[in-house]
Amino acid sequence: MHIEHADAVDRYLCDLLVQEDDALRDAVRASDEAGLPAIQVAPNQGKLLHMLASMLRARRILEIGTLGGYSAIWMARALPPDGRLITLELDPKHAQIARSNFIRAGVASLVDVHVGPALHSLEALGREHAGPFDLVFIDADKQSTPEYFAWALRLTRPGAAIVIDNAIRRGEVANAETTDPGALGIRRALAIIAAEPRVTASALQTVGSKGYDGFAIAVVK
Ligand code: SAH
Ligand code: DHB
Ligand code: MG
Repeated sequence: MHIEHADAVDRYLCDLLVQEDDALRDAVRASDEAGLPAIQVAPNQGKLLHMLASMLRARRILEIGTLGGYSAIWMARALPPDGRLITLELDPKHAQIARSNFIRAGVASLVDVHVGPALHSLEALGREHAGPFDLVFIDADKQSTPEYFAWALRLTRPGAAIVIDNAIRRGEVANAETTDPGALGIRRALAIIAAEPRVTASALQTVGSKGYDGFAIAVVK
C-alpha cells in the first residue's frame, strides 16, 4: 500500500469534485496557525458529510468533537436557514478558533459550540430535550465512542444517521489483542452497534490524505 499515491489520488478527486472554497481553506489555515492538530476530515470526507446531511434533509445536526470547525462548516452548509448544528468541544481554545471560523464561513447563526467534556454537554442536551437530531457525527476522544453512541441513539429520530469517524485506525480495530485505547473504544462501540436492534449499520475502510482509517454509519430504524 503506497500512502503517497493515496494522497495524490485524494488531491485529484478533491480538485475535480470537491468545491472547497476560501472559507473552508481559511478554516484549516487558521487552525494550523493556532497550533491545532491537523486531524480534521479530508475535503472529500467533509463533502460526504454535507451530502449525507442533504440526503437526510437534516434540520438538526449534532457533532461531538469540533476542533477548528472544519467538518461542522461542511455539515452546517447543508442546513436550511432555520436549521441548527450543535457541536461539542472540550478545549476552549479549539472552540474559540472554531467560532471565528464559523463567522468567516457565514454559518455562525446556524451553529452553537458547547464547551466542556462532551459527556457533560450530552447530559445537559438530554435534560433540555434538545433532540431529536437528524444526523450525529461522532469524532472526539475515541475511547468514549460507546457512550457517545448511546447518547446519539437517545437524541435521534427514526431515519437519522449516526456517523463515527476513525472507525478503522490503520486496521487496529480488527486486532482482537489491541491495547490501543482508541481502537478498544471503537471495538466496544461496534460490538454494541452490532447487538443493537434499533439500528442497522455498516462500516467502510478509507485511504487518502488522512491515511488509512474509516467511517462507521448506523441508521436509526
Ligand atoms: N470533527 C473535527 C475534528 C475533531 S478532532 C473535524 O473533522 O473538523 C477531535 C476533537 O475532539 C478535538 O478538538 C478534541 O479537543 C475534542 N475532544 C477530545 N476529547 C473530548 C471530550 N471528552 N469532549 C469533547 N471534545 C473532546
Ligand atoms: C486522529 C484523526 C482523527 O480524525 C481524529 O478525530 C482524532 C485523531 C489521528 O490521526 O490521530
Ligand atoms: Mg476524526
